[in-house]
Amino acid sequence: MLRADSSPGYGAPCVVSRNEVATVMADQMQNSSHAHGHGGAARPLAAQRSGPIKGVLRAPGDKSMSHRALMLGLLAVGRTRIDGLLEGSDVLATAEACRAFGAKVERLGSGSWQVDGMGAGSLLEPVKPLDFGNAGTGTRLMMGIAGGHAMTVTFDGDASLRKRPMRRILDPLTLMGVEVISEAEGGRLPVTIRGTGDPAPIEYRTPVPSAQLKSAILLAGLNSPGTTTVIESEASRDHTEKMLAYFGANIVSRPDGEHGRRIELTGRAELTAKDIVVPADPSSAAFALVAAIIVPGSDLLVEGMMMNPLRTGLLICLQEMGADIEVLNQRIEGGEDVADLRVRASSLTGIEVPPERAPAMIDEYPILAVAASFAKGDTRMCGLAELRVKESDRLAAIADGLAAAGVRSTIEGDDLIVHSTGKVAGGGPVATHLDHRIAMSFLVMGLASDNPVGVDDVAMIDTSFPTFQPDMERLGAAFFEDGK
Ligand code: S3P
Repeated sequence: MLRADSSPGYGAPCVVSRNEVATVMADQMQNSSHAHGHGGAARPLAAQRSGPIKGVLRAPGDKSMSHRALMLGLLAVGRTRIDGLLEGSDVLATAEACRAFGAKVERLGSGSWQVDGMGAGSLLEPVKPLDFGNAGTGTRLMMGIAGGHAMTVTFDGDASLRKRPMRRILDPLTLMGVEVISEAEGGRLPVTIRGTGDPAPIEYRTPVPSAQLKSAILLAGLNSPGTTTVIESEASRDHTEKMLAYFGANIVSRPDGEHGRRIELTGRAELTAKDIVVPADPSSAAFALVAAIIVPGSDLLVEGMMMNPLRTGLLICLQEMGADIEVLNQRIEGGEDVADLRVRASSLTGIEVPPERAPAMIDEYPILAVAASFAKGDTRMCGLAELRVKESDRLAAIADGLAAAGVRSTIEGDDLIVHSTGKVAGGGPVATHLDHRIAMSFLVMGLASDNPVGVDDVAMIDTSFPTFQPDMERLGAAFFEDGK
């Protein structure tokens, strides 16, 4: 678990040697090479009905912000200090990529890192392909960064990432003058692009609400001589815009239509290195929150959770379902709304989740489906098309996992309906398809189901929540290795 000591000023940082860093990275990358689908053995795990979930959790640093903090550190001039960085394999792959572009990236201690940046427009060309493992965010944002530099870069990833669509990024980058040298069938990885030092300023309306897409365009636009405009009809998470402004970029964002935003970035402003504190990831805290809600007698405090309104869709849903969640000690940290949450076991009732809420809870549908399995009545989640192109086809993976655990669900178009009686039989093993959030969600389900729930592989959890198992066990969760 990353503790609250990830904030600055907790004593002198311990500077570890490059070798030690290499060992941490090698361990993590080795774990992720299981995850890469490049051969490591799968690690099955099961969860069984446990006692109350009690205590205090500090979830690891936010994954979205951790990627961006390293990248803006790379693009800034000077030394950026990051505290609370998520040390999951997705983010470590981004740290490696920053090194490949010439930045000096050092780990100072748990969650504390520093980046000596190169300055936007002055990156070095990586000498070998960049392997992003399982990380869609790392890949897509770095494509934008590379696209804004006159260099040739190859992007690759694991079996899951190789299935994910990259055309949504390559299309606008092409309009900006980037050349796609090669791509696998259907716009998949491995992809090689030749970027341009003179990206054309474009105005682009995103066809899907995607922060990764929006961010790739803005990051390429940093090196453009004009104003790059992105318009989205449903606002997606805005960490890139906020962090760019914090680093001194010339960026303005304003509402557009009922739920949308128009973002304008004027390029070629120098970014200045900054200190950043990364708050706890709501998408990771979500697993403990739901565990505490569904396991009888639970009473959990989740500390320092990021409450950016574009990330709190799950909380709204859980509150609508009747969950007992108290929001305490609201404050601003690292430029983001943050709060502590006290969560107690609750009886839930099914709800209808409107499609416009999807961008604010896009990663939380698997765990919401688990909560819905313990609710009385149906829960209908509308407009889930984007779930089909996540780390797995999450719509299918959720429905199959529910079926394996004895919960009835149906898919109608892009909607998922969980038909719940309030009781879950359990079962498995649930197929995780190299998807960390499917693995964690179904393990949480097993903590409150009549019989255990098993998942076929947990190696992937390292990508976003490396301390999931010990953190959850400390709070009372009962896991066992399947087959024992
Ligand atoms: C992310 C954006 C979301 C989300 C992903 C992280 C980001 O993807 O699913 O886990 O950090 O920008 P999309 O923007 O493609 O929806």
